[in-house]
Order: sequence, then structure tokens, then C-alpha cells
Amino acid sequence: MNYYNALLLTPGPTPVAQEILHATQQPMVGHRSTDFEAIAEEAFQALKPTFGTKNNVMILTSSGTSALEASMLNIANPDDEIVIIVSGAFGNRFKQIAETYYNNVHIYDVEWGQAVDVDAFMDYLQSLNTSITAVFSQYCETSTAVLHPVNELGHALKQFDDSIYFIVDGVSCIGAVDVDLERDDIDVLVSGSQKAIMLPPGLAFVAYNDRAKERFSEVTTPRFYLDLNKYLTSLSKNSTPFTPNVSLFRGVNAYAKLIEREGLENVISRHYAIRDALRQALKALELELLVQDEYASPTVTAFVPQSKEELNYLKGELKSRFNITIAGGQGHLKGEILRIGHMGQISPFDILHVVSALEILVSDFRQKSYIGTAITQYMEVIKAYV
Ligand SMILES: Cc1ncc(COP(=O)(O)O)c(C=O)c1O
Repeated sequence: MNYYNALLLTPGPTPVAQEILHATQQPMVGHRSTDFEAIAEEAFQALKPTFGTKNNVMILTSSGTSALEASMLNIANPDDEIVIIVSGAFGNRFKQIAETYYNNVHIYDVEWGQAVDVDAFMDYLQSLNTSITAVFSQYCETSTAVLHPVNELGHALKQFDDSIYFIVDGVSCIGAVDVDLERDDIDVLVSGSQKAIMLPPGLAFVAYNDRAKERFSEVTTPRFYLDLNKYLTSLSKNSTPFTPNVSLFRGVNAYAKLIEREGLENVISRHYAIRDALRQALKALELELLVQDEYASPTVTAFVPQSKEELNYLKGELKSRFNITIAGGQGHLKGEILRIGHMGQISPFDILHVVSALEILVSDFRQKSYIGTAITQYMEVIKAYV
């Protein structure tokens, strides 16, 4: 049988809405023109609700990692003490960046698949017995599908020492979670274009509060392309320091219109409904969930097939028979887990495709019928939502 519409269910890149594609395909304009200034002015403001910030959001023409790197280089001086929470492959990314530039890096390891325990982390900070400049954490650790309690962490950090900067990597969840820099005590929040913001890859975003903005101008760590002061100066003139991806800036504006139409709250609750329904469906298929309910991300779900053979079979057959792409594991979870991304322009019925395909594949592989079991569980949750 032919499945004509490919379904991209990786935790980024994600399907790009028609309206966004259309916007990105408009004729080019000069990036030093008033045409672009109008596009940029709109884009810098358009992202404010998504990031929960009152400041215009900086837009870099580079992938999410550049924003991780920029968030560090503009907040900490080379000899400052910084702490990285590592709970998966993207915590490791922060660690690698830190070890490239910094002399006093403290790593707080969290078991992959677990969320950070805020009390235990605060005890660790206390035990360091030194003055910490900044703490870095993922919001959603994409490699494990954990959503960390950043709000709780932000409050605890401020209470512990309100001079500490709290930097959050929200690459794989911003656009699908309720975040507010002020309320959550986050100083810098970064993200990328190709996840819940549902653009093609190629832009990175940096949201910041006033305290962080002040700090960017004081930090002496060498940086050039990623000097956020340059972006801030340009931003105030509705411009960018280097040639921007004009097409994707237009995409940002199209994204914001879509979100405004659906309502950010509705967008967020759609993600959570899909998460909850998918988890029930996977349980019905006797596929173990990697993450406990409390910390399960609304954007990506990780599960553990019953054997390596089953894992390879499910991933391979989803692609070859059903035209559905999902993701495997990363780091030591490679070959151990599968991940289904469900962020951006994904409807509950898109995920129903993968649930029903999994029913067939699991039934075939285990020689035991699961037909109807997972979709029933799935629809029981979805019916309360639609
Ligand atoms: C949580 C997180 N941080 C950082 C990145 C890196 O982003 P990029 O690949 O766009 O550089 C990713 C990409 O998957 C991610 O999921």
C-alpha cells in the first residue's frame, strides 16, 4: 500500500505549515533595506509571547547550538565558576561548550531519563562552597524526552543566591510550554527554529531579561559572531549585525500569525493532550515509557521496545511501510529507545497514524494481536480534548 503523505515525527526538524512555507518563498529583499527592517521589527516582537518575555527576542542566523554557545560566552567570564546540569546529549553539548572556553566548570550529572531533583541540586550547589556565576540547564532534554522543572529550579536558585544567572536551553520545547522569564526566574532562554516553532532549521533565538542584557555588555570573554551586544545594537535599529536569513525571518512572522490564530494556550494544551494520549497508547502496546508521567515532555516521547530486534523492526518498518519517520536514541541510549516527536503543527490525528501503524507492527512482530487496543486508549484521552 502507498502512503503518500510522509509523516515527519522526529523531535526536530518538524513539519512546516503551508502558511510558513509560503511566507519563506516570497521574493528576496535586501537585508539593508526598509523592506527588511519592517520584517525584522515584526519578527523581534512576534516571538515575545512564545518566550514569555517583555523584551524583543534576538534572532541569529545559525542553528540552536549557536544560541547555547552565545548564552554562555555573553554571561560568564573565562575564570567564572559555572555549573552545567547534564541529563542527556544536550546537557553534554553545554558541557562541551563550557570546557572549550572555561576554566572552572562544575558538572552536575542527572541519570538519563530522570529530571533534576531540585533539592538535591541545591545541596550540590551549597557543597561547592564557591561563588557561582551561572547555572545552565535544558528545559526539555530532547535525548531522553524529560521536561525539567525549570520554574522550580529558577525559584530555588534565586532564593539561594540571586546573583546567579540561570540560563535555559529551550530548543526542543519553546512554543509548546508555558514559560515566563520573570515568573520562572530565568535570565536567558534560548531556542531554535526547527522544533515547536515549526520553521525550517536555520535560526536561533535568544530571550533575556534586563539583568542579563546588562551583563552581556560587561562580560569580557572573547567572541565575535556570537557577541550578543552586536545583535542588541542592531535589533534596536530593526536590523541584524550580519546577513540574516531573510526568508526565515518572514517565516517567524507567519508562525506568530498561526499561533495568534490558534491561541498560545490552545497550542500548549494540544501538545499536552497528544503527550498524554500517546503515553496511554504506548502502554497499551506494552512499550515501556522511559520517563515518568510527572516529567514527560509535551514535545517528544521516548519508549523502550522489548528487544533490540523489535526496536529496529519498528523504526525500519514505520519508515519503509508507512512513510513515518521517528527517531532513535542518542549517546548510550542509541539502540535502546525510540523517540516520537510531536511538536509544532501536529494534530492529534497525525499521531493517530503512528499509533495505528505501531499496533500493526507490534502485532506482526510479537505474533499477538494488539489491533484496536492502542487507538482506543489514545482516543479516550483525545476525545476529552477535541
Ligand atoms: C535541547 C536541544 N538543545 C540544543 C540542540 C542543538 O540544536 P541545533 O542542532 O539546531 O544546533 C538541540 C537539537 O536537537 C536540542 O534538542
